Amino acid sequence: MTHPEPRIRTVELRPGYVIPRIINGGWQLSEGHDPSSDGGDRLEAKRLSDLRALADAGLTAFDGADIYTGVEALYGRLLASFPRGDDGGPGLQVHTKLVPDLDVLPHISKSYVEGLIDRSLSRLGVERLDLVQFHWWDWSIDGWLDTLSWLDELRAKGKIRHLGVTNFDTPRLSRVLDQGIDIAAHQLQYSLLDRRPESSMVDLCRRRNVCLLCYGTLAGGFLTDRWLGRPAPTEPLANRSLVKYRLMIKELGGWSAFQALLRLLDETARRHGVSIANVATRWVLDRPGVAAAVVGVRDARHLADNLRTFGFEPAEQDVGPLRSFLEQHPGADGDIYSVERVVGGKHAVIMKTGLNQTD
Ligand SMILES: NC(=O)c1ccc[n+]([C@@H]2O[C@H](COP(=O)([O-])OP(=O)(O)OC[C@H]3O[C@@H](n4cnc5c(N)ncnc54)[C@H](OP(=O)(O)O)[C@@H]3O)[C@@H](O)[C@H]2O)c1
Repeated sequence: MTHPEPRIRTVELRPGYVIPRIINGGWQLSEGHDPSSDGGDRLEAKRLSDLRALADAGLTAFDGADIYTGVEALYGRLLASFPRGDDGGPGLQVHTKLVPDLDVLPHISKSYVEGLIDRSLSRLGVERLDLVQFHWWDWSIDGWLDTLSWLDELRAKGKIRHLGVTNFDTPRLSRVLDQGIDIAAHQLQYSLLDRRPESSMVDLCRRRNVCLLCYGTLAGGFLTDRWLGRPAPTEPLANRSLVKYRLMIKELGGWSAFQALLRLLDETARRHGVSIANVATRWVLDRPGVAAAVVGVRDARHLADNLRTFGFEPAEQDVGPLRSFLEQHPGADGDIYSVERVVGGKHAVIMKTGLNQTD
């Protein structure tokens, strides 16, 4: 099947702030995500040219975090080398996260938070951060609402354009919104393997105009052609993403249930001449309330394929069988990030809660 060059779809998160519906995810570029990565100058030059290729193709939004070691600085170099947009702006949308270390939370202060924001500004080489998504490791420690109100002050001061949260549950996001703080986006895990947002978060976000930015769309690469018909991987897995989403496959019902899902996705993919990754991303993008999928990138290898996400229209023949499968395989239940917060639980012990050392 031949496809016309697909047009990248965009979404307006807030008036005047438009991003593509696929955001390039930067966790995969951080030091320590892939233990076999060697780093070094050649890799740096290659990374920059790959990121340029993504942006040149129209995928101009990048997701990072203050705890993704090296990534804000890498994005800073990308921004410095990228031509200005029509409006004189950078032509790229660069999102970051504020993720204070777990051991800082009991005594977090306004000046500490401003210091983290100033550090992100300086690493990126910008005067204002496009979107800051705030994460809090432990709800039993107070201070998260204060931190958000300090971030809101920094927005009023002009250091932040839009505020977001990540991995918030429904009651706490409701409290934030009830304080009158404008939350443009919520970054959360939402995929064929993890439909916890549908329990209550999607409804809240749609009612209160919070756009969903979804990670885990490809389960770190598991939800792709590469794993179709393959045996379950053995330890150690190649990177941290795969470790995280292997657990979500277990929540779905294990490797044989996952293979049945891949076969269903493959049927749709073949009907439309696209890839399993395209079908999985498209499924997320077609959910109500979803603004964009954050798809992890290590390089530009998957660029052409990911652009095909926008180039086909799933039909009832595709979504009907998938719907039946998902009804029989509900996966993890509870609110957003609930199993990840169970102290000592298998999802929690793989987290690194102390990566935000100051430079
Ligand atoms: N807020 C949070 O707590 C949080 C948590 C996790 C992630 N995130 C964000 O979400 C982003 C996405 O990360 P993720 O861990 O959820 O991974 P993901 O997007 O589900 O998977 C990304 C991986 O899928 C593979 N891939 C991408 N496109 C493909 C295609 N068309 N065909 C085949 N394989 C393809 C690539 O693996 P290979 O390079 O190995 O081929 C890529 O590294 C992160 O970078 C980060 O920005 C946020």
